[in-house]
Amino acid sequence: MTPRPVLAAYFAWRFLTRQWFDVFYWSAARVSHSLMRLRKADRLTDHQLMSLMSWHAHQTEKATKHRSAPVEGGRPRGHRHYDALSHYLAESARRPALATQERDALEWIREVHAAYDLWRRTPGHINITPPAAVGPGESPRRVAPADLSALMHTRASARMWQAREVADDVIAALIDAGLQAPSSCNRQGVVTVIAKRAFPRELREGVNNPFMLHNAPVIIYVAADPSLYPERQAPALDAGMAAENIVLLAETYGLATCPMYHSESVDQKRLRAQTGIPRNLYVYVALLIGYPAELVVKPRRLSHALRSRWIRE
Ligand SMILES: Cc1cc2nc3c(=O)[nH]c(=O)nc-3n(C[C@H](O)[C@H](O)[C@H](O)COP(=O)(O)O)c2cc1C
Repeated sequence: MTPRPVLAAYFAWRFLTRQWFDVFYWSAARVSHSLMRLRKADRLTDHQLMSLMSWHAHQTEKATKHRSAPVEGGRPRGHRHYDALSHYLAESARRPALATQERDALEWIREVHAAYDLWRRTPGHINITPPAAVGPGESPRRVAPADLSALMHTRASARMWQAREVADDVIAALIDAGLQAPSSCNRQGVVTVIAKRAFPRELREGVNNPFMLHNAPVIIYVAADPSLYPERQAPALDAGMAAENIVLLAETYGLATCPMYHSESVDQKRLRAQTGIPRNLYVYVALLIGYPAELVVKPRRLSHALRSRWIRE
């Protein structure tokens, strides 16, 4: 954890260099995150509890990878995260439904907890598993780079849809792709809300191209709980990462998609009221999904010269 004087100096520097908005916003994000963490464990929602555990487990695990625990004196690095993890694990044990619903995640969290115990008790031990030996010419990846690259090059946003239904198991696979995306500090704060031709007409107001919303067979709202993040931009980034996973996998099913910016472009309060999205979630983007009724022409990309820089020694 960053010592308070360092944080204070950092904020002062940001303020003096006129990054006021960032200072204000980031402080607000930190305050709401701290308030959530100060809440008694039994008052956290299941998602907040699991998200906090995922974060603490991530930090606990990282602490054991850089160097071995000090042999004597002082508490080893990561001990605050480890203690928090123990605290929240006790709370999770009081919620029987989580034992089955979150079996996988809890198993990993308990493994991390046990690995930390082993690390701090074993002098010289560093908790790193070397990658399995790979023979020459073999690749541990199952998707060929050219295949994934082709998918990215041919994907284009569609805006007109066939009336054909998208099967629920396909939607479930897309949602799962979203869950597999990276998340900031493993917070896993992104939540998807699926509307299958069931979105209220009123939602079209205040949205660009409302006809697109009206016609899309499926809309996946990609939202996140910002109180799970102490950073200003991380929830938006996490939502973007999840959205891209969904969009790419959709292509492999012959579906097309179109992201639609939501965030401050829509009345979040009304959107929540219309869709039943809980108050703690903020909707960043809506993904329109369906079988395309148009042959989409992908806008040509600006050049590498304009959009990439190499930094080398
Ligand atoms: C965050 C985000 C928001 C977008 N919002 C809209 C939108 O509101 N309406 C729309 O027609 N397209 C929207 N798009 C799609 C872009 O217009 C499209 O990605 C861009 O023109 C590039 O075309 P391509 O996706 O076919 O490669 C959005 C894309 C992103 C990434």
